Amino acid sequence: MSMKIPNIAPEKIPAHVAIVMDGNGRWAKARGLPRTAGHEAGEAALFDVIEGAIAIGVKEISAYAFSTENWRRSPDEVKFLMGFNRDVIRRRRDQMHAMGVHVRWVGRPKRLWSSVINELEQAEELTAKNKVLTLNMCVNYGGRSEIVDAATALARDVKRGKLSADKISEKVFSRYLDQPQMRDVDLFLRSSGEMRTSNFLPWQSVYAEFVFMDVLWPDVDRTTLWKAIEEYSKRDRRFGKA
Ligand code: IPE
Ligand code: IPE
Ligand code: MG
Repeated sequence: MSMKIPNIAPEKIPAHVAIVMDGNGRWAKARGLPRTAGHEAGEAALFDVIEGAIAIGVKEISAYAFSTENWRRSPDEVKFLMGFNRDVIRRRRDQMHAMGVHVRWVGRPKRLWSSVINELEQAEELTAKNKVLTLNMCVNYGGRSEIVDAATALARDVKRGKLSADKISEKVFSRYLDQPQMRDVDLFLRSSGEMRTSNFLPWQSVYAEFVFMDVLWPDVDRTTLWKAIEEYSKRDRRFGKA
């Protein structure tokens, strides 16, 4: 697609973009293909968006690849998604590294295939020093489980005497989240026309700007991201101030 990078003032570029990559199944259905073909077609969309994000100056992307609710899908689809995520991370690792992308896994170990965890950890280790863009791969991620797991760890530390209960602030609490280094989300994107968050990054998105894109994920590319950022740049973020 031909669209030049929009000319947007650097302070109007979102540092952290969260993306719910939705609509793969519908994309495949419209073509008479199995749902899995939609997931496969979504890979190129993600990596084009990552290149577009680097080009425009985004510093961090959180990509929702598998939610804690996605275990409710058919065993065949779950199995496909596990193997597919593992393979994508392996296949794209060197490319990400060459682009200066720091890959991090965000999510819960429970139930997640150990081969997926293993690939994510290897990618994380290889790319740990990269500074161009941070890519949070959210695999087996759930916002509520993240908060509950944080509360559990916090309660344990209080019980052990490592921390006093009246010292618990937002800042202290956030250190117990899956990825304490994560910035707050500036721009929250979802493809496919659905207008819900589906349990993605609730703690981090309390002041995010939301843009819902009327395009199925496999049809997304860098220009879709740039258009959403143009819209974001026109929003007035007040953070409660008058
Ligand atoms: C998003 O596409 C990918 C995952 C949730 C893993 P979907 O598979 O949800 O596609 P639709 O929403 O059924 O079209
Ligand atoms: C959210 O999409 C999860 C991912 C994109 C990984 P879903 O398709 O699972 O969400 P719902 O079920 O429509 O809310
Ligand atoms: Mg969906």
